[in-house]
Amino acid sequence: MRETFLNKRVTGLKPSGIRKYFDIAATMQDVISLGIGEPDFFTPESISQAGIRSIQHGDTHYTSNAGLIELRHALSKHLEKKYAVSYNPDNELIITVGVSEALYLVFTAVLEPGDEVIIPTPCFVSYQAEVELAGGVAVEVPSRLENDFNPDPAAIEAAVTPRTRAILLGYPNNPTGAVATRDTLHKIADIAEKYDLLVVSDEIYDRLVYDFEHVCFSAIPGMHKRTVLLGGFSKAYAMTGWRIGYSAAPVEISKGMLRIHQFTVMSAPTMSQMAAMEALENGEPFVEEMVAEYDRRRRLIVSGLNSLGLKTFEPRGAFYAFPQITVSGLNENLFAERLLQEEHVALVPGSAFGVGGEGFVRCSYATSYEKIEEALRRLERFMRRVG
Ligand SMILES: Cc1ncc(COP(=O)(O)O)c(C=O)c1O
Repeated sequence: MRETFLNKRVTGLKPSGIRKYFDIAATMQDVISLGIGEPDFFTPESISQAGIRSIQHGDTHYTSNAGLIELRHALSKHLEKKYAVSYNPDNELIITVGVSEALYLVFTAVLEPGDEVIIPTPCFVSYQAEVELAGGVAVEVPSRLENDFNPDPAAIEAAVTPRTRAILLGYPNNPTGAVATRDTLHKIADIAEKYDLLVVSDEIYDRLVYDFEHVCFSAIPGMHKRTVLLGGFSKAYAMTGWRIGYSAAPVEISKGMLRIHQFTVMSAPTMSQMAAMEALENGEPFVEEMVAEYDRRRRLIVSGLNSLGLKTFEPRGAFYAFPQITVSGLNENLFAERLLQEEHVALVPGSAFGVGGEGFVRCSYATSYEKIEEALRRLERFMRRVG
C-alpha cells in the first residue's frame, strides 16, 4: 500500500492557523469570538426574498457558465458607475462561487509549475494555498505597521525574479484593515508594467471603507489589460453563505478561467445569482447602514485596545483591528491561546496571515458592540495579569 494517495501539492499545504482556535473555542461556554471573518448581520430581507422567489418560481436550473446575463449586465453597470471601469458582460465577467473560487480559477489558469506570485503579507489565509495548489510559489513580502500596512513597492520590486508571473493584492486588507493608497498602487502599477506582470486584485472589502478612498486597481491607467479584479457579495451584503462572487478580466484570461469554471462548478448557484442581482439593484441603503455600524464598533475597539497599551493601527477598511501585542511579553500564539483559555476571548494570531504578522493578533469587529465591550473588559483583566 502506498504511504499516501495524495499529491505533494496537497500534503505540502499548511493547515489554516485560524481553525485551531475555533476548534478549541467550540468546546467552551461563554466564548466571545473576535475571530470570525464574516458579518454578524442577517442578509437584508429583500435580498433573501429574491433568492426564495427564485426557488418558488422554479428558477432552480443551471445558468449559463459565466452566470445569468442579466446579473453580468447589472455588475458591469455597477463597476462602471462606481469605478469608471468598463467590462463587457458578454466575455469579461464570470459569476463565481465566491472570491474563493475565483482565486482558484485565476491561478490555475495562468501559472506554470514553479511560477512565482508576489503577495504582500499579512494577507487572507487562502492566498498562499491557492497559488501553491496551482503549482506556483508564493513569495511573501511583508508590509509594516510604520507604513500603515501599505504594500511596499520597493520590497515588491526587489522580490521580482525571472519566474515572477503575478502580484496578488488584497486591499482593503484582511487582517490589517489597511487600504492601499492611490500613490502606492500607482507605484505597483509601474512595477507590473516594467516587468510585464499580471495583477490579481482581490477587492472583496471595497465597500467597507471608513472615510478613506478605495482605488480599484484596474481603473489605474494602463492596468485594465493586466488585471484580474475579484469581488463579491459576502462582506458588503452579509451573504457569506450564499457563495457568490465574480471575476472581471480581459477576454483571453476570462476565457481561460471560464474553461476551468465550466468543468469544476458549471455555474454559480442560481438562487444566489438572483439574490446578488437584487443586492446590486437595491442593496445600497443596507450597505451604508452596516458600514455605519462597523464604523461605530471600529472606533470602540481601536480606542479600547490602544488604551490597554496594545498599539493599534486605525483600520481604514474591512472589519478587523490588528493590535501589536508584544508589550504583553507573550508571542502572538501564546497570547491567543492564553486569552482563550483564561478569559474565553477568541482572536487569531497575526502569524496565521503570513510573514509580518508576528507580534500581532487579529480582532474582528464583525460582532456586536456589547460583545466588543465585554471582550475589552476581559482583555483588560488579562493585560493586568500578564502585562
Ligand atoms: C480578503 C478575502 N478574500 C476572499 C475571501 C473569501 O470570500 P468569498 O466568501 O467571496 O469566497 C475572504 C473571506 O474571508 C477574504 O477575507
